[in-house]
Amino acid sequence: MRLSNWLAALIVAAGIAPASAEDYPSGPITIVVPFSAGGPTDTVTRLVAEPMSKELGAQVVVQNVGGAGGTLGAGQVAKAEPDGQTLLLHHIGMSTAPTLYRNLAFKPLEDFEPIGLVTEVPMVIVARKDFPANTLQELIDYVKANKDKVTYANAGIGAASHLCGMLFMEAIGTELTTVPYQGTGPALTDLVGGQVDFMCDQTTNTTGQIKGGEIKAYAVTTPERLDALPDLPTANEAGLPGFEVAVWHGLYAPKGTPAPVIEKLQKALQVALKDQTVVKRFAELGTTPSPEQDVTPKALADHLEAQINLWKPIIEKAGVYAQ
Ligand code: MLT
Repeated sequence: MRLSNWLAALIVAAGIAPASAEDYPSGPITIVVPFSAGGPTDTVTRLVAEPMSKELGAQVVVQNVGGAGGTLGAGQVAKAEPDGQTLLLHHIGMSTAPTLYRNLAFKPLEDFEPIGLVTEVPMVIVARKDFPANTLQELIDYVKANKDKVTYANAGIGAASHLCGMLFMEAIGTELTTVPYQGTGPALTDLVGGQVDFMCDQTTNTTGQIKGGEIKAYAVTTPERLDALPDLPTANEAGLPGFEVAVWHGLYAPKGTPAPVIEKLQKALQVALKDQTVVKRFAELGTTPSPEQDVTPKALADHLEAQINLWKPIIEKAGVYAQ
């Protein structure tokens, strides 16, 4: 980076002068996905990255930083240069981590500039295709009767698959052996291969494999059935009344990123979420883009705070902590 850029970054970082949006972006933008490539968060990010790149006139690179249920990747972005060149696309895990991790390396509400909500993805309870249960009730009965044998895959404490699994185990009153992955991309590979028994994952990852008969699906975790998977009952219908989890996603920049840059990123995200390719692909994957009024810093900040407060007592009651 040229000396003049260093000086500019120093001035911006010192809050002496906001970066003018005109000279932003000054190069490729990195969006960190705090889970493995090929999983649901990665899928959502790569879909919005393309139209954002066009709108911003800069390359948008997706970097996968997995580990610790998404907290490693989030922590890396919290410490990045606040110049708008490094962003984080993360989900509901931003709201559960403060309760799950007592020594969390970042404060979700203080160490980031929220840009906007992105999408809210349904989850689905799935198993390997030869799992000996054909309905959700049969799965519950089998899992309870074989709790020391059955394995549940997740993407680490703090992942959406962990949260859904925690709620599932609470609901059926049974503790299970969990197999953690760096993301549900690799977890799904093992589920298709039969190396792990079942998991709760996002439709943005599993819809193709469900439709292709590569895995068994039992129920969706939404109040209503999904157009993308119309034959799948809701957990409500199928034996787990009130069992609802929706994986909301947000886009963040490091704290201190200048307001004109945040505004430019917010606009680019709003444009991306109206892009017809994105809308169509999201629909095929069982989800929809967040409405424009939610693609704002305030909407994301308010939702994040509300979700932190919602999940705190639920996690404390379950007694599940990472450290
Ligand atoms: C992923 O992208 O791998 C998932 O979001 C992991 C999870 O949250 O379960």
